[in-house]
Amino acid sequence: MDIAIIGYGGMGGYHAECLKKYAETQAEFPLRLAGIYDIDAARCTLAEERGIRVFGDPAEIWADKSVGAVLIATPNDVHAQYVKAAAAAGKNIICEKPIGLSEKQAEKMYADAEKAGVVFEVHQNRRWDDDFLTVKNIMEQGCIGDVYRIESRVMGGNGIPGAWRKELAHGGGMMLDWGVHLIDQMLQMISSPVVSLYCEYSYIYGEEVEDGCRLSVRFENGVEYLIVIATDCFRSMPRWQVYGTEGTATVKDWDLSGGVTRVLVRHDDKLQGIRAGNGFTKTMAPRVGDTVEEKPLPVVHAEPFAFYKNFAAACAGKEQKKIKKEEVLRVFRLMEAAALSARKNSVIKKKI
Ligand SMILES: NC(=O)c1ccc[n+]([C@@H]2O[C@H](COP(=O)([O-])OP(=O)(O)OC[C@H]3O[C@@H](n4cnc5c(N)ncnc54)[C@H](O)[C@@H]3O)[C@@H](O)[C@H]2O)c1
Repeated sequence: MDIAIIGYGGMGGYHAECLKKYAETQAEFPLRLAGIYDIDAARCTLAEERGIRVFGDPAEIWADKSVGAVLIATPNDVHAQYVKAAAAAGKNIICEKPIGLSEKQAEKMYADAEKAGVVFEVHQNRRWDDDFLTVKNIMEQGCIGDVYRIESRVMGGNGIPGAWRKELAHGGGMMLDWGVHLIDQMLQMISSPVVSLYCEYSYIYGEEVEDGCRLSVRFENGVEYLIVIATDCFRSMPRWQVYGTEGTATVKDWDLSGGVTRVLVRHDDKLQGIRAGNGFTKTMAPRVGDTVEEKPLPVVHAEPFAFYKNFAAACAGKEQKKIKKEEVLRVFRLMEAAALSARKNSVIKKKI
């Protein structure tokens, strides 16, 4: 199936490269780049220089029978209009995350696609991140017993890049940008309703949108989950820290460094105190000897291009879409509850 990219910016360019590689490796469910459309002449020139066909108008894409699908990678506020037009033209659709600016808008977008009978998929690509899959594996394998607390952090020091991400009207801000990924991962990991949450936004750079956030979520099954998104941090904390009844696991970075410490003796009767700062402590003394054991991370690697393959297979009627509508809408409900919590500076107690 041929697919056209609308919005050939950072992510559109990345998709074009990935689709090229995917086309080289995948024969069963092919996806070939048909061309791109962008309102920015410089991006169109760049695409031409790279040997990519440039459509002069979206209507050319809608009218082209050889184009079976579109991939929308414009700023967030522009997604909905293209989803509506593409669906009306009978094209299957991949839309970048977040698909819209609210749950209400997202529901309407799904309705447009359902009415037209096209496949509508959201690029929640971070479900195939190796670090996330590895943490999920730690939980599922019981490597550290029952997991009761998870900390998921992404920490950059670049502020909010580009122009539209700094503006509310375009769907800017770190909750819609990164929160949508980290909340989606969280809901894939914990199969229990959320019962309460508290969120704080940061405005270090003085933009009209949040440049970071801290979101604490409590699930009905007792699991606590902390999401931290920072753009003002020049020394990162671990990407993941996971606490279980039988140990602690750390995934330091996307490079999958880190490890698992399993507790063999929970209460160490022979615990020795240490000098720490201007004092003495037993409580905070590191575990030594044979009361703990160190293990490597049980690393999981995602199948390459699994997202594109699933989309193409779903379009061919051979697989179910991996990203379900109800999952996408639930992420929006959480993002909206988090925004409300940040605005009111209060805990939101609500089953989500
Ligand atoms: N899934 C991921 O990992 C990931 C990563 C980065 C960005 N994204 C998403 O991709 C989308 C684009 O982000 P980006 O970082 O590439 O932004 P970007 O600013 O680099 O690119 C956006 C492009 O869209 C074009 N554009 C703007 N309005 C348009 C319109 N009306 N019609 C056609 N083209 C238009 C711009 O000229 C620009 O080239 C966003 O929704 C973002 O959230 C997803």
